[in-house]
Amino acid sequence: MISGDICGDSAMKGELLLLSSMIFLLQGARGCPENCQCHSSSSFVDCSQRGLAEIPADLPAPTLWLNLQDNQIRQIPAFAFRSVPQLMTLNLANNSLSHLSPAAFQGLQHLQVLNLTQNSLFSLDNTIFHSLPGLRELDLSSNSISHLPTSLSEDWENLTVFAVQHNRLQHLDRALLESMPSVKLLYLKDNIWKCNCHLLRLKLWLEKFIYKGGVTDGIVCRSPDPWKGEKLLAIPHELYQPCLLPSPDAAPSWAQQPGSAHRGALKPTESHGSECELKPKPRPANLRHAIATVVITGVVCGIMCLMMLAAAIYGCAYAAITARYQGRPLAPNHEPGKTEGKELFDSSPA
Ligand SMILES: *[C@@H]1O[C@H](CO)[C@@H](O)[C@H](O)[C@H]1NC(C)=O
Ligand SMILES: *[C@@H]1O[C@H](CO)[C@@H](O)[C@H](O)[C@H]1NC(C)=O
Ligand SMILES: *[C@@H]1O[C@H](CO)[C@@H](O)[C@H](O)[C@H]1NC(C)=O
Repeated sequence: MISGDICGDSAMKGELLLLSSMIFLLQGARGCPENCQCHSSSSFVDCSQRGLAEIPADLPAPTLWLNLQDNQIRQIPAFAFRSVPQLMTLNLANNSLSHLSPAAFQGLQHLQVLNLTQNSLFSLDNTIFHSLPGLRELDLSSNSISHLPTSLSEDWENLTVFAVQHNRLQHLDRALLESMPSVKLLYLKDNIWKCNCHLLRLKLWLEKFIYKGGVTDGIVCRSPDPWKGEKLLAIPHELYQPCLLPSPDAAPSWAQQPGSAHRGALKPTESHGSECELKPKPRPANLRHAIATVVITGVVCGIMCLMMLAAAIYGCAYAAITARYQGRPLAPNHEPGKTEGKELFDSSPA
């Protein structure tokens, strides 16, 4: 726009041509869009809180950091950032974005941080982030997203922060999280999570994620009724319903769940089945066995101890009684007899 005005001026007044083109050149060299602030040789471009309705067209090519926060930008057309291929951080927080062209971020090979929080997005094209393989932080929080595709990128090897809290998600396919092998921070709260059987795979994934040191603000169930207000991670596996298997062969044997033989047969063939199956079940059984063994051993030992004690008491008592009965009639009878005999014998010659 500025260049247009300048061109008009220069056409009208010839003597201003030199000055105008000098200003134009200066601006070109500085390369800062109208109303924005540029720092450090245009690497940092701050266009926040300018009432912008669209992406500024004349962004300087060396831009690494672009702040468009707190504007009223409604949409991002295809190749909107074509002029800033070095961009590493793009902040579009608190705008009015409801639609992103599938090619909106095309060409941003080096983008590491993309902030789309506080917008009006309700869905995402599943190819929209394909052009951002080096992304490290993606903030999609505080939108109206009700569905996320199974895959947003082929493999986000460097993505460490993924934020989708405060949206309208009922379900999240764990395949999406599996495409982020480095993710460390996961914001999921304040969605309308439906904790039916389909969320079990996500629950298992999250347990492993936390075990490996990942941090998440967790999932609080909104439905169905038994789990309303409950934390998904706190629901015991035993109470959580696994899904029926979609495979026609496996489904009938799945229906007769108590048969552990069927379960064992299922495991190697159907990985889905083994995953949905309540893994920790064998553990309580083992624990019960252990407890039973300890109790039985204790009882048996106790009985044996009591028996030995009884035997000892009986033995002592018997010994005492026999000693008493043997001692009494013999000792007094003998001695007087002996002494009497002795006395008689002694007294007879006397
Ligand atoms: C969002 O941006 C508007 C200006 O467009 C501003 O008035 C408002 O305070 C911002 N909201 C937040 C939460 O920062
Ligand atoms: C995105 O921007 C918001 C608002 O400035 C900020 O609170 C949030 O931390 C940012 N997200 C990331 C991943 O940097
Ligand atoms: C991930 O980060 C490493 C180290 O910074 C870098 O070498 C690699 O190119 C990044 N991967 C992608 C796909 O950008």
